[in-house]
Amino acid sequence: MRLLDEIAGIGRDQETGGYLRYAWSSAELELRDWFRAQARQRDLELQEDGNGNIFAWWGEGPGAVVTGSHFDSVPQGGAFDGPLGIVSALLAVDELRSLNKKPKHPIGIAVFAEEEGSRFGLACLGSRLLTGAVEPGIELVDRDGVHLREVITPAGRRDDILGRIGCFVELHIEQGRALSRPVGVASAIWPHGRWRLDFTGEPNHAGTTLMTDRRDPMLTFAFTVLAANKEARQRGAHATIGRVSAQPNATNAIAGRVTAWLDARAASTEVVDQLVSAVLDKARERSKKDGTAVELTTESVSGETRFDTALRDRLSHVLDDAPVLPTGAGHDAGVLSAHVPTAMLFVRNPTGISHSPAEHATDSDCAAGVTALARVLMDLAC
Ligand code: GLV
Ligand code: MN
Ligand code: MN
Repeated sequence: MRLLDEIAGIGRDQETGGYLRYAWSSAELELRDWFRAQARQRDLELQEDGNGNIFAWWGEGPGAVVTGSHFDSVPQGGAFDGPLGIVSALLAVDELRSLNKKPKHPIGIAVFAEEEGSRFGLACLGSRLLTGAVEPGIELVDRDGVHLREVITPAGRRDDILGRIGCFVELHIEQGRALSRPVGVASAIWPHGRWRLDFTGEPNHAGTTLMTDRRDPMLTFAFTVLAANKEARQRGAHATIGRVSAQPNATNAIAGRVTAWLDARAASTEVVDQLVSAVLDKARERSKKDGTAVELTTESVSGETRFDTALRDRLSHVLDDAPVLPTGAGHDAGVLSAHVPTAMLFVRNPTGISHSPAEHATDSDCAAGVTALARVLMDLAC
C-alpha cells in the first residue's frame, strides 16, 4: 500500500479522484521515472524497447519469467487497472529476495505503453509494436491531432527481447464480480474491438428549420445507441457507446456530424462480427429515414485469447486450486499469448467496478495478490 500510495497523486483528478494517465503524458512519464527508480533501487537491469515499453531484469539470458502490466489509464480510470500489476511485480521480487531465493531463470518486470488505447485509439499499442502485431510505421493520431510519430519513432518488433521471454504472467485487478476468493487465474479473454461511427447530416438553425426538413445525424446516432444495446442483449454479448462528439456542438443548431465509438465484445469472434454488422445495418436503415449518412471505421480489434492451458493449470495448482475464469477485458497478456506461454492472475474486485474512479481492491486482497505472484514466480523461475 505504501508503493501504491507513492504514485496515488500522479495524474489524479482532484475533483473526481479518477486518473488521467494517458500514454506519454506528463503523468505517465512520471510513473515510468518512478518505475525506473524502483528498479534501480533493486539492482534490476533496465532495458527500453524503443516502443515505449520498459523491462527491468533480474538475471541474464533466455527463458525469463516476465511479469508486469501498464501505467496508462482510461479517462477517469481507477488506481488499480494496470499499476497493481507493476507494483505487485516489484513486491514479489522483494518477497523472493527476502526468502533468499536465487532464480534459475531470469525474472523480468515489464511496463507496457498505451494498453488502454485511450490516447491513440489502438489498445495494447506497446505490446503490439514489440511483437510485430502492428507495423512501426502505423499512422495514429490523438484527440489533439498529435501523431504517434511526433511522440515516438517506434522500433517495432524486438526479437531479441521476445527471445528472452520464456513465459509471461500478468497480475491484474479483476474487472467484474466473478471472484469469491482473493486471487484467481484467467482462462480466456473475450474477442473485442472498437469501431468509429461517423454520422453526417445537414447543420442548420434549431429555430427555423421545419422538423420535416431536417437531416439530423443526432437522431441516427440516438437510434444506433439503442440498437446496439438491443442487438448485444439478444446475443449475450456486450456493446457500449461511451464516447461521442458532435459538431458544431451548439445548443441552437442541428448537428452536422456526430462521431461515436462502438465497443463490442462477445464470447466468440463470430458473434462480435455479427453484432457489429447488425448494428451497422440498423444505423443504415435509420439513416435513410433521417436523410443522413453513416460510415463505420475499424479502429482496434483483438481476437479471442485462450491462455496456455498447462500454465493456467499449473498456476491454479500452485495457488491451492485458485478459481479459473474468463474475462471481457483486454490485456497485454492477450497480445503476448500469441508468442509465448502466457497466464494471468486476477485480484478480487469487491464491487466489480472498473474503468471508473470507484475501482477498488482491499489491502488484504492486494497483499494476497503479491504473495500469489511471488509463489508463481518461485514455482516457474526458482
Ligand atoms: C481494457 O481495459 C479494455 O478491455 O478495454
Ligand atoms: Mn483497462
Ligand atoms: Mn488493464
